[in-house]
Amino acid sequence: MTNVSERSLYERMGGYDTLAAFTDELLQRLTSDPEIGIYWRGHSTDSMKRDRQLIVDFLCEAIGGPVIYRRTDLKTSHQGLRISERDWEVFANHAVAALEKLEVPEQEKQEFLECAASLKDDIVEER
Ligand code: HEM
Repeated sequence: MTNVSERSLYERMGGYDTLAAFTDELLQRLTSDPEIGIYWRGHSTDSMKRDRQLIVDFLCEAIGGPVIYRRTDLKTSHQGLRISERDWEVFANHAVAALEKLEVPEQEKQEFLECAASLKDDIVEER
């Protein structure tokens, strides 16, 4: 009998389909946000598809899924965007809303948000 702690967060969240649906919901929210949507203005549909897939892959790997993210680290890929503390807050609120929309259970939601929070120092440049 497998107990909860032996199952990865990836499995407990519902695997690939949940992570893909989460990423689509999050990106929809981020790109239409009045404050931070500007970061994605000027990106073609094709480059958004590429970024979407990279995010799905990154997240799946980060939470224990059978996916290998082969791009550069997140610090390098966000360097120069000048993402601020406030931008991060807006982003994090959208992430919570997307998890709630997908009805990710409380325990898994908290673990996922902790994982995201651990990446903040690599992404936020402007304090
Ligand atoms: C835990 C939080 C985050 C994760 C896991 C994440 C993940 C990623 C990944 C995997 C990529 C593709 C990287 C590549 O092209 O090599 C990306 C790109 C990008 N991210 Fe994030 N990101 C996070 C937070 C943020 C925040 C807070 C913002 C802005 C408010 C942001 C803005 C962007 C933008 C604008 C791009 C496209 C960069 C480009 O095409 O040059 N990200 N992100």
